[in-house]
Amino acid sequence: MKEIFLTTLRQSATPPTAFRQAAGELSRLLAAEASRLIPTQTIQIQTPLSKATGARLSHRVILTTILRSGLAMLPSFQELFPAAPIGFFGMRRDEKTAIPRLYYQNLPKITRDDWVFLLDPMLATGGSSFLALEILADAGASPSQCVLVSIVAAQPGVDVIRKKFPALKLVMGAIDPSLNDRKFIVPGLGDFGDRYFDTVG
Ligand code: URA
Repeated sequence: MKEIFLTTLRQSATPPTAFRQAAGELSRLLAAEASRLIPTQTIQIQTPLSKATGARLSHRVILTTILRSGLAMLPSFQELFPAAPIGFFGMRRDEKTAIPRLYYQNLPKITRDDWVFLLDPMLATGGSSFLALEILADAGASPSQCVLVSIVAAQPGVDVIRKKFPALKLVMGAIDPSLNDRKFIVPGLGDFGDRYFDTVG
């Protein structure tokens, strides 16, 4: 199903309503995939009929997202992790250099035991996620318990992130081969934020 939703997202003729719906559905699939990385522990429970064995997550999950396009993935992750604290990074990338500038940050308290998800729909050069992951590590997150979740990533961005954070877990809808001279992912899907929020430039 990932491929079906990605096809909708990639097509330039897709209107914003269908784009939003596909982004939500694909994020739901990615959330399920990412959830399987978190260790569980066996617990004894009581059903109405007998004792049984159940499972619960062994760690707290923290959701973090990069404004503004990361907001599109958040509701699907909140559905699966309704109790998760949520952190935000406000970043804007320079149109010419594609270098991200952090203009806002608000994180919950993070411990090394937590599993931290970073939601960044379009991993292009990797610059924004790189900066966010550095901040998360400084704030106490364990890189081996961080999961970067993207709808579409570019191979060059993935390479940059993997080199700096080899223990990081990656969950991606697709990995595309390249970036154009404006650092957009090719074939990609264009500007995710503009297509999702129905804005121009
Ligand atoms: N951000 C986007 O929205 N699209 C890209 O292709 C790259 C970064």
